[in-house]
Amino acid sequence: METHSALALLEWQIELGADEAIGDVPVNRLDLPEAMSPPRTMPPQSALEGSAVDSLGHVAPSEADPVAEARAMAAAAPDLAALREALTAYDRCDLKRGARNLVFADGNPAARVMIVGEAPGRDEDLQGLPFVGRAGQLLDQMFAAIGLDRASPDAERAIYITNMLPWRPPQNRDPTPEEIAMMMPFVRRHVELADPDVIVAMGNHACQGLLGRRGITRLRGAWDTALGKPVLPMFHPAYLLRTPHAKREAWADLLMLQARLREAR
Ligand code: URA
Repeated sequence: METHSALALLEWQIELGADEAIGDVPVNRLDLPEAMSPPRTMPPQSALEGSAVDSLGHVAPSEADPVAEARAMAAAAPDLAALREALTAYDRCDLKRGARNLVFADGNPAARVMIVGEAPGRDEDLQGLPFVGRAGQLLDQMFAAIGLDRASPDAERAIYITNMLPWRPPQNRDPTPEEIAMMMPFVRRHVELADPDVIVAMGNHACQGLLGRRGITRLRGAWDTALGKPVLPMFHPAYLLRTPHAKREAWADLLMLQARLREAR
């Protein structure tokens, strides 16, 4: 094949969203037999009592809409490990089929600060951890500037990080309102179980899920409340990479966070 035809074909594939070579033969994941989907693992029966989910992870027909199913499964999780398993077993979100890994959380679950981002990107999907790409490196630098570190075993100096969505949306597109609604019960339970002192909502999609509002430029710089916790909306680090002059506001927000943590100690 001539070079310019090969190049044109490659560009066409990139436009269709095939941004990576992972195998010689295409796999239609929608056609995979049931036996190849991940096994359903559920919390103990005691944790399911009173919910619409049975011990095999089946949901009662009356509760079979995706948000109700998410609510029942999330509420039945007695701890973070069970919540992770419940998310692994949740089959109603199509993003799961296109993702390589579930991205649940990173950092110290005992941390006083819980960060809620948007959704995994390519690096996060590959590693199964949130905020490990370029935006994640900036996030680490930002929090290091106020003495916080995801690797710290000390809850006072640590952060705990998750996202609104645990699976990478194709081509990093924005989450849909339906996806946010489906995942919100898991985020709510995640916050209940981690029980941080404060939440940082990174960017518009986290604000949409947690506060029911977007407009990060207006929301940032002021504390709000969601899920019974103080919430600080902040510019997403990916936005800061594209808009470096907004780092001034991000720094002011980090100082607000630091002051709040000192006050409430
Ligand atoms: N952006 C996010 O919002 N979350 C990640 O995990 C990575 C990038």
